[in-house]
Amino acid sequence: MAPITFRVNGQPRTVDVSPDTPLLWVLRDVLNLTGTKFGCGAALCGACTVHVEGEATRSCVTPVEMVAGKSITTIEGLSAGGSHPLQQAWVAEQVPQCGYCQSGMLMTAAELLAR
Ligand code: FES
Repeated sequence: MAPITFRVNGQPRTVDVSPDTPLLWVLRDVLNLTGTKFGCGAALCGACTVHVEGEATRSCVTPVEMVAGKSITTIEGLSAGGSHPLQQAWVAEQVPQCGYCQSGMLMTAAELLAR
C-alpha cells in the first residue's frame, strides 16, 4: 500500500491501495464512481473505458500506479448534467439497449471526436 494521487473529473484524489490495483476497481470501489463498468477484464470489450490525459484507456488493465499525477475523466465527468453532445445524441437516437456498456462507448466516441 502506498498513497497515490491523481485528478478525477477535475478533483484531486489520493488513494491508499496496492499500486497494481486496476484503476477500474479504484474508481468503482474506492471512489464510488460506478458509471465505469466491468465487462471482460481483459481490455477487449471497452466497458471500462475512461480518459487518462484525454486518451481513451481501458481501466481494467491499467494499474493505478500508472495514473499517478495524471488527470482522469470518467462518464460522471464527461459533462455537467449529461449535456455533452454525444450524450444528447445517445438519447435522441435511442442508442442504449441494456445500457451496461454505454459509458465505455461514450468515452471512446468522445475521445475520437475530440481528436
Ligand atoms: S472490462 Fe472489458 S475492456 Fe475493460
